[in-house]
Amino acid sequence: MVEYNPFDWETAHNPYPVYRQLRDEAPVYRNEQFGFWALSRYADVVAAHLNSDDFSSAHGVTIEGAEKDAPFLIVKDPPEHTAHRRIVGRLFTPRRIALLEPFVRRTAAGLLDELRDADRFDVVEDFSFRLPLDVISELIGIPESYRLQIHHLSDRIAVRESAEMTEDGILATLELAGLLTDLVRERRASPGDDVITMLMNTPVEEEDGRTRMLTDDELAGRFLELSFAGHETVAKLIPNGVVALAWCPDARRELAANPALMANAVEEMLRWDPPSHYQGRWTTRDVEVRGTVIPAEQRVILVTGSAVHDERKYPDPDTFDIHRDIDRHVSFGFGRHLCLGASLARLETRVAFEELLKRFPDFSIDETGVERRVNVNVRGLSRLPLVVESRAAV
Ligand code: HEM
Repeated sequence: MVEYNPFDWETAHNPYPVYRQLRDEAPVYRNEQFGFWALSRYADVVAAHLNSDDFSSAHGVTIEGAEKDAPFLIVKDPPEHTAHRRIVGRLFTPRRIALLEPFVRRTAAGLLDELRDADRFDVVEDFSFRLPLDVISELIGIPESYRLQIHHLSDRIAVRESAEMTEDGILATLELAGLLTDLVRERRASPGDDVITMLMNTPVEEEDGRTRMLTDDELAGRFLELSFAGHETVAKLIPNGVVALAWCPDARRELAANPALMANAVEEMLRWDPPSHYQGRWTTRDVEVRGTVIPAEQRVILVTGSAVHDERKYPDPDTFDIHRDIDRHVSFGFGRHLCLGASLARLETRVAFEELLKRFPDFSIDETGVERRVNVNVRGLSRLPLVVESRAAV
């Protein structure tokens, strides 16, 4: 009988075999130990995303749901979600994000130029978390002196040894919340040209039609959500893509020669090894899926990592194919909570690889130095030593 424990190290290391078993043998899976249900087929994951009345986000989106009371968009249902999302969404439209390309490219190029003479470097430490962290921080107004601290605190919050946040994670959450509240106060005292200042000055409409301004706690929550979601995910996608290109040198050479293929390659990176592996929901009533009734008031996880490898949707799903015709994937979620930062994440990842391959068209990975931590639903490498095989002047 299939057993799926997302906190098990082997599973975190390579969850794809157990995902296949889930899809084939237990598409509506029940885990008694941690008290959750799991939907793993693409069609079921999409259907649940679209049925947000029965599959609520308001009890949190992780298995333990520790974040359920936080002022995050991701844990709100309508109508609250709709009103808040409308405001933040205006700042992250594809059109606005496209204007950031020169800035994103300058940032990526600056980081890679520092590695110009290196024979090897760590993709994570030296590049993949720093690029999205610098970009999102500029957008939302996190001063440079705070960024590393925010990154290290976010990392500590994400660690999971079981279905509970670690003691250290709780301490890190309190520290980060305090730090971001201080930043909100600073910003009130001296407004800037950034997302948080803009949110500070934009009224939000309540259910009864009245409007009000966001509180400091809500603003700190928005800060935390955007800084965490805005960098921890891309920080994981870039190394996953580097691994794919190290394992598939033909694809790497093709992309180096023809960067126009990069946008589709990024979609395939998102599908092949996505950074976010499940989205938690909570049933608001009994829901029947494939003949099984999931009772009301239950944790259900929509296993994104499995859905994007479902052979019922994607032929030969374990193969990394930069030419794959992907009409849709759920790596950014789907429906009401579809990732607000999708355009930004796509831009950052495309530019990251264009700039990386321009300088280092050939590389390999020192497999002995690769490290991974077991994290909350964000999955990826914490160390990825890259060995430079050839370099080009830019
Ligand atoms: C490769 C990078 C990224 C991945 C894989 C990713 C993935 C996701 C997923 C799966 C969701 C849906 C969660 C759910 O349904 O419960 C989501 C929501 C969200 N993402 Fe991203 N994300 C990425 C980058 C970003 C960036 C750069 C930002 C910064 C702006 C961002 C901000 C958000 C926000 C605010 C939400 C909540 C939206 C809502 O609840 O309405 N994400 N993301």
